Amino acid sequence: MSAAGLADLFSLYSAFPLLASASFSADSPASSGSSTSLSLTTDSLSTEPALLLKAFSSIFSDNESSWEAAQTISRNAREEIGLPNTASLGYGEILPESVFTIMCEIKDVHGLERGGVVYDLGSGSGRVLFAACLAHDFRLSKGIEFIESLHNAALRNKNRWEEHDVVTPEEGGPVDRVEFDFLKGDITKITSRALSPAPTVLFCHATLFDDDLFDCVQVISENCNPGTFFVMITKPLRTVNSTGMVTGIETLSYKQYRMSWGHTTVYLQRRMKTNE
Ligand SMILES: C[S@@+](CC[C@H](N)C(=O)[O-])C[C@H]1O[C@@H](n2cnc3c(N)ncnc32)[C@H](O)[C@@H]1O
Repeated sequence: MSAAGLADLFSLYSAFPLLASASFSADSPASSGSSTSLSLTTDSLSTEPALLLKAFSSIFSDNESSWEAAQTISRNAREEIGLPNTASLGYGEILPESVFTIMCEIKDVHGLERGGVVYDLGSGSGRVLFAACLAHDFRLSKGIEFIESLHNAALRNKNRWEEHDVVTPEEGGPVDRVEFDFLKGDITKITSRALSPAPTVLFCHATLFDDDLFDCVQVISENCNPGTFFVMITKPLRTVNSTGMVTGIETLSYKQYRMSWGHTTVYLQRRMKTNE
């Protein structure tokens, strides 16, 4: 982002009441019994992610929009539908500052054109998508979530975003508004295992996904266009299949990032260009 772009962002976000810092208490993931207290400050972030975090915290400032609230919604829903111990439905979130840093890498190191479509498979309360859309001017943002009450939480978060009238000015171009499309649905039921419209960037917090669900995500990813970026939490997409054939997915980097439940490895992967 240019200095002018950053200045635009500053003036945009100065309309929001900024927080000096934010703190999160890490809850344990469904698979872990430990609980650690995490103190999140903006000090360790480069300027742009720190700025984005302040904007994010301003939009989602109330308890009802927190990841803790989403986790409670998920737990209650799983008990109600009689699936309290289904691992794939376990809840945890990528912290927004992790999303910002990942998006910076995609943009600055690997190149990401303006616009595009971002997906989150298993989108929960939608916070990953809102963070991604603060970091980049996607034109469309799509989330697919199985649990209805989490899907409804994402719709309430969408209202919060729209109340703030967030725009993403960039590089002196026109100011764009992103469209959010949250679907209450099942990843395993996606027609022909193909996402439409095609994603530019796809997030998947697959930490607790079982093998069948992960296999679905694998096929959906292999059906994406060359050049599509995948942000895979804990579990990377396979680059070689069980018969030793390449899948067309390459790994660009893998690093540790903070989640609501602790640290894990995030794999940045890409669908190879056909001539690679
Ligand atoms: C670990 S949470 C991730 C939440 C959010 N994407 C994030 O990373 O911050 C995984 C989400 O996937 C959802 N999920 C699990 N199986 C699913 C399926 N078959 N179809 C759609 N969503 C599913 C869960 O309900 C849960 O909300």
